[in-house]
Amino acid sequence: MAGVRGFIQELPKAELHLHLEGSIEPATLLELDASLTAEEVKAHYQYANFLGFLRSYEWVTRRLRTPADYAHVTRRLLDRLATENVRYAEINLSTGVILWKGQDFAPIYEAVNAEARASSVEVRWIFDAVRQFAVEDGMRVAELAAERTGDGVAGFGIGGDEARGPAGKFAEVFAFARRKGLRLAPHAGETTGPETIRASLELGAERIGHGIRAVEDEALMRYLRDHDIPLEVCISSNVATGVVETLAEHPLRRIYEAGVPVVLNTDDPAMFHTTLVREYEIAAAQFGFTEAELRRLAENSFRYAFSACGS
Ligand code: HPA
Ligand code: ZN
Repeated sequence: MAGVRGFIQELPKAELHLHLEGSIEPATLLELDASLTAEEVKAHYQYANFLGFLRSYEWVTRRLRTPADYAHVTRRLLDRLATENVRYAEINLSTGVILWKGQDFAPIYEAVNAEARASSVEVRWIFDAVRQFAVEDGMRVAELAAERTGDGVAGFGIGGDEARGPAGKFAEVFAFARRKGLRLAPHAGETTGPETIRASLELGAERIGHGIRAVEDEALMRYLRDHDIPLEVCISSNVATGVVETLAEHPLRRIYEAGVPVVLNTDDPAMFHTTLVREYEIAAAQFGFTEAELRRLAENSFRYAFSACGS
């Protein structure tokens, strides 16, 4: 494979912002649920806006009914990451949604983590709470994560609708998670402004999921740079959910030039029709990232991992 694509393919890479449930390809969903039609699935993999995406994400996640289903989609994801030379992945597991579905959590985690241990890709899990759910629901997610810090879990995060679940609402949950040694990687500054990022930093966030709206606040940008706090940037996600109007308007280049640490990620690769190689290609083709800069992004993906990992 020649050219920049071959260069990117060969770079050892890590994924730090990736949701298991958003990695399920339409064909896999059809295998899991024989009652679905291809048209129905296709319709759920397109979104008019961010809230439309969240509805689709919930719809997809509801198709996962058994630990075996969760294991199956984990295997598919890890096999694909291996083909892209992704050596390490921190995978968000929507624990809040599993509890909301009323499922027994332990066998699901055992199933996905068994797949992780069997893979050539080194995996750590981040348990994700849903910010529009109650604080007690978030606490339950943090407790489940804390029970598994020695068994593959690295961190705790929150996702979902920022407008309906400000970070401050979960202050005691973040404090609990920190006391238990969990690393904190909440989503913030994706659909709401810099204040959500500031609030997350006050609660101890060590990385910011998305965080692209930091560009609206110069002092915050300096803070992120000076405190070496990376933004987990997901370009295709931001375009697909409409949080940036066009690809050309994406602030990746501005963030990078300001010296704020950046890691590139896919977020929900199947639901946003992308791969990690593709995200690096977009950085090159659309934002003029040179091979040296792409290499730096790949190095960042290991540098800011929550667990020391070989590259
Ligand atoms: N943001 C908020 N909620 C989500 C995301 C995201 O990037 N992916 C899956 N659920
Ligand atoms: Zn995300």
